Amino acid sequence: MTVSIAFELVRPDGAAALAKLKADTFVETFAADNDPAHVEAHLAREFTPARVERTLADERSTTWWLLDDGVPVGFLKVNRAGAQTEPDLDDGLEVEQIYVLASHHGQGLGSRLMEQAITTAQSEGFPSIWLGVWEKNLRAIAVYEHLGFVPFGEHRFLFGNEEQRDVLMRLRVDGSSPPGR
Ligand SMILES: CC(C)(COP(=O)(O)OP(=O)(O)OC[C@H]1O[C@@H](n2cnc3c(N)ncnc32)[C@H](O)[C@@H]1OP(=O)(O)O)[C@@H](O)C(=O)NCCC(=O)NCCS
Repeated sequence: MTVSIAFELVRPDGAAALAKLKADTFVETFAADNDPAHVEAHLAREFTPARVERTLADERSTTWWLLDDGVPVGFLKVNRAGAQTEPDLDDGLEVEQIYVLASHHGQGLGSRLMEQAITTAQSEGFPSIWLGVWEKNLRAIAVYEHLGFVPFGEHRFLFGNEEQRDVLMRLRVDGSSPPGR
């Protein structure tokens, strides 16, 4: 059997498939540690094809995905000024979402997606990329630290009625030192 991973920009006609991938990866990542009602509400609000189609049409954001023999298995969404979740951090490129299906973890796909974020930031003149990661998502935090990201702040938010905390992490991509600052 031939298995090939393709890397592509997501086009508007991919909205329904991307919405499903977003929902599936969200459940895999967060369902076990959160109130099921909060997860359900989040899925119903955030990952409808119509909503995903709107984000795909927003020129301030870009989404790529990885296809395993044509089936989407991972994606990356980056945001520029005006579309970012932290308006004051628009001197860097935001990696809002980077997700790989659990069936494909540990095969270099996350690194491949992050490399795209880095080259995009560099080609557009951003000195850094940044992201927010749930403080309980220890695997992702370990991966980001391994890739050179450094924590620099936090973002508190409500998930359902529960206050949660994202760690904000940054990676310098302009070659300046010290890394991550
Ligand atoms: C985080 C995630 C995107 C990483 O993707 P992945 O395909 O599993 O990662 P890769 O196999 O490309 O590994 C990325 C790098 O981290 C390293 N790494 C992998 N697991 C690690 C761990 N537990 N601790 C430290 N480093 C780790 C790898 O060695 C690799 O480094 P290298 O390129 O120098 O070899 C993926 O695990 C995922 O989708 N997790 C669930 C969703 C999620 O948490 N998304 C982030 C939300 S903020």
